[in-house]
Amino acid sequence: MEVEGAQICELSERELHEATVTTPVNIAVVKYWGKRNNDLILPTNSSISCTLNQDHLNTKTTVRASSSYTDDRFWLNGIEETISNSPRLTTVLVTLRAIRKEKEKTLGPLAEGEKPLSEWKLHIASENNFPTAAGLASSSSGYAALAVCISKVLELDLTASELSKIARRGSGSACRSLYGGFVEWQHGVDPSGEDSCAVSIAPESHWPELEALILVVSDVKKSTPSTSGMSTTVKTSELFPLRVNEVAPKRIKQMEQAILEKDFNSFATIAMKDSNQFHAVCLDTFPPIFYLNDVSRGIITLVHRFNSQVDPATGEPLGIRAAYTFDAGANAVIFVLKNNVKELVEYIASHFPPATLQPTSVYFPDPFGIFRSADA
Ligand code: ADP
Ligand code: DP6
Ligand code: CO
Repeated sequence: MEVEGAQICELSERELHEATVTTPVNIAVVKYWGKRNNDLILPTNSSISCTLNQDHLNTKTTVRASSSYTDDRFWLNGIEETISNSPRLTTVLVTLRAIRKEKEKTLGPLAEGEKPLSEWKLHIASENNFPTAAGLASSSSGYAALAVCISKVLELDLTASELSKIARRGSGSACRSLYGGFVEWQHGVDPSGEDSCAVSIAPESHWPELEALILVVSDVKKSTPSTSGMSTTVKTSELFPLRVNEVAPKRIKQMEQAILEKDFNSFATIAMKDSNQFHAVCLDTFPPIFYLNDVSRGIITLVHRFNSQVDPATGEPLGIRAAYTFDAGANAVIFVLKNNVKELVEYIASHFPPATLQPTSVYFPDPFGIFRSADA
């Protein structure tokens, strides 16, 4: 009986593989916007981001492989989507299966009638616990989760760097969600994309005083997805070459230094300017793309007002104590040091009555990235 039980257990393990992962979003402070290769998702410029604590915003993905499934299937936030309609999801799947196939060449022979794992179909269910496609980087956590979870189910021992490149094929920004803390996506020069992946600048423990506040202005799906928006920008914006060739490379260096030196003034200034330039380039796209709305612009004005306050006792300027950044959507991410959080939150609350922002509007601040990469 014992032997039989062990066999049954082994059999069911062979017939069913399942894994669940959660991944964090990352918010760029020097933005990626534009591809030099659409298929491989190679960017026109390097970008820098902060990975947020996944206790708040995250994607949770479960992948189940079974030798008895007849099709690959995918559910996003509980609604089934057709995989063949998503070339990027297909690419991630095909890439990981090909790696599995290679690995199988090194494994022992299969039992009579047994199908190799690379041929098992997958059922994938993914949920974001925050608005999808609304400019809060759902594609970053979404595709990072997909790459990590499928690689686990297929029993692949990939490094964070390898996973970063695979996640990049799903959505460019996803390559940065493989790392916690402060991350650079290096644009790379190789036409194959081999050198276009994320690297860590510093772990989240480097700057624990830095917090991020998310203000949900709108949770509706954006009318221009990031992919099509940036494609039109590359084709039509005359400001874009200036950004790519001069501004972004300079800011990458300055931002890296600001992070390493924990220089909030520089970090905040570059982040706000870069967000503004990204939206300027969107406006310079033809036809123009509008991601910000009146509330977003109100938040920008408010942060500048907050930053221009003076110490009531001395009359001295208090300096830059908050920075906004907006991705391709109306929602704001505000960076602020811990000791200024309370004052900033009260300031925002006093200027934006709760009705202006969504009920779940303020994701309370937390230190960055507790995410551990797949191979940690
Ligand atoms: P966002 O600003 O939210 O990143 P994008 O336009 O870049 O918006 O990407 C949104 C798209 O990313 C969605 O329409 C969907 O195709 C994909 N996506 C979002 N979340 C997930 C997920 N959890 N798993 C797989 N794909 C996802
Ligand atoms: C404004 O990574 O969502 O958030 O690569 O086409 O999937 P695709 O686009 P995506 O673009 C992100 C744009 C951004 C800036 C950033 O995250 O760097
Ligand atoms: Co995105």
